[in-house]
Amino acid sequence: MSASSSPNEPALYSVRDLHKEYQMQGVTVPVLRGCDLEVKHGEILSIIGMSGVGKTTLLNIMGLLDNPTSGELIYSSGEDKELQGCDLAGLGLSKKCSIRNRHFGFVFQFYHLLPDLTVIENVLLPSMISLSYGKYNSQRSRLEERARELLDRVGVLDRSEFPPSRLSGGERQRVAIARALMNNPELVFCDEPTGNLDTSTGDRIHELILELNRELGIGFILVTHDEGLASLASRILTMRDGRFEGQ
Ligand SMILES: Nc1ncnc2c1ncn2[C@@H]1O[C@H](COP(=O)(O)OP(=O)(O)OP(=O)(O)O)[C@@H](O)[C@H]1O
Ligand SMILES: [Mg+2]
Repeated sequence: MSASSSPNEPALYSVRDLHKEYQMQGVTVPVLRGCDLEVKHGEILSIIGMSGVGKTTLLNIMGLLDNPTSGELIYSSGEDKELQGCDLAGLGLSKKCSIRNRHFGFVFQFYHLLPDLTVIENVLLPSMISLSYGKYNSQRSRLEERARELLDRVGVLDRSEFPPSRLSGGERQRVAIARALMNNPELVFCDEPTGNLDTSTGDRIHELILELNRELGIGFILVTHDEGLASLASRILTMRDGRFEGQ
């Protein structure tokens, strides 16, 4: 995978004519109104826009955490031949969960680490979810080794056995990034990843995201209000009225 994918290579992810409406006390509220987006393999894309415009809604739908009202989510995995030009919107729940777990990672503003697990257990969670109990146990030492490598890579290996409550905000976000990478995703969705951090801690998280993109070829979609973070991307798209400006 590389950010400079050939022009003939299909996009990793094509969102076509996406609509999302919510029903509020009998009233239909349109949020996404015919949104189109193409994401290339290994690219960093920033999405900006006013509060309430639908950025999180779009990310949740693309990440298969929520369903669209209509539209296509065409995915062309570089890893999985079964997922070449597949419309993810039409798949059943268990298939969606499996794709989400194997191909996507998530980083949220408030980290969403489980407080009763240690740091390393939080990082191991995606592998626990994707494997059966027997398989997880038989591969446990290899998986723990991978989790430790990831914690080392993001700079918090010495916190492995701590509960998240004993970590700073920047350290928690590093753990959340390691967790997002555990199953070797092709695309990581980051919703305001530095929104809860001070500027210099946020800047170090930006550097980490850039490094992971460059060295591992993982794609990132960054929803942000942070101009510094947005400017890292190869493209910045602005949402307005439920679609991207210029569409
Ligand atoms: N479950 C829901 N039910 C009803 N309306 C919702 C729901 N989730 C989101 N909305 C509405 O959809 C609109 C878009 O919300 P969304 O969270 O996607 O915005 P956003 O661009 O991420 O905003 P912010 O920058 O503040 O995070 C908002 O008006 C919000 O109130
Ligand atoms: Mg949001």
